[in-house]
Amino acid sequence: MKEKIFLTRTLHDFAIKELKKNFQVEIHKGKIPIPQSTLKSKIKNVDGLICFPYDKIDKKIIETAENLKVISTYSVGYDHIDTQFAKEKKIRVGYTPEVLTDATADLAFGLLIDSLRRISEGDRLIRKGKWKQIYGAYDYVGLDLQEKTLGIIGLGRIGKALAKRAKAFNMKIIYHNRKQITKGQERKLGVKYATFDKLITQSDIISIHVPHTKETNGMFNMKIFKKMKNDAFLINTSRGKVVNEKDLTLALKQKTIAGAGLDVFEIEPIRKNHPFIKLENIVLAPHVGSSTKETRGKMAEITVKNLILGINGKKPIYSIGY
Ligand code: DGY
Repeated sequence: MKEKIFLTRTLHDFAIKELKKNFQVEIHKGKIPIPQSTLKSKIKNVDGLICFPYDKIDKKIIETAENLKVISTYSVGYDHIDTQFAKEKKIRVGYTPEVLTDATADLAFGLLIDSLRRISEGDRLIRKGKWKQIYGAYDYVGLDLQEKTLGIIGLGRIGKALAKRAKAFNMKIIYHNRKQITKGQERKLGVKYATFDKLITQSDIISIHVPHTKETNGMFNMKIFKKMKNDAFLINTSRGKVVNEKDLTLALKQKTIAGAGLDVFEIEPIRKNHPFIKLENIVLAPHVGSSTKETRGKMAEITVKNLILGINGKKPIYSIGY
């Protein structure tokens, strides 16, 4: 008898076809994200689970599963999964790094350009019929990218890919990371190590590339915004909870910092009356870091491969913990 797998929402047709060749497949078709009670009843007898960043795969859910061998998430982030508990239960966890590095770095750099050159702000202005002045000395002026200091928090795959893009735009790049890379690697990438404090105080733009953990939760708050230059920008394509949104709203309103470009939020989707929506000095994207046709296809491929490997008792191509 074929093993049973459950998907908390559907994936690409080619991925579903591949899964159906190997397994009994059930796909959740109702409300997204799947309610915890539904997930609990569905996970009980399955051998494999495919999930997404909005699903909460906590201890309670994992405990319910009687046959689960693998959790395969369609994301690089895995803060929605209790990976420690999965490891204790000898359940493999697969995820999808690398294939989304360039797409996410492109988006972070896109938010950076948009913030400095005020593209979205200009778009809103035109649509509202408010484009009055043409080509004046002070009209709709943004800022140059070249010679600005970009501070990268977290020099992992995506942080490094962002550095490459910034180097091509003649930006000065500093980074802060738990581990300093070698001098040779720094030279090649065109980056310089900085302490956290130095990076915060000296950067014209700060881009966040750390996972959401207990340590990074609310890491960017008013204390940090006050230390930043007041003409500096904050870019976040990592996880929303790394930034304290209440403090960021205030910092943007009071011009403690100049602007922000965000792809991720504390709660997604953000509500219609979220205070960010009324602010002009913020660029908002609906969590689309990895969202290109090519990248999402590659992520689906890896998600399926990780699942098949895990069900067969093997380590996923990209695996956490066990
Ligand atoms: C991920 O894969 O974790 C990203 O946040 C999706 O864009």
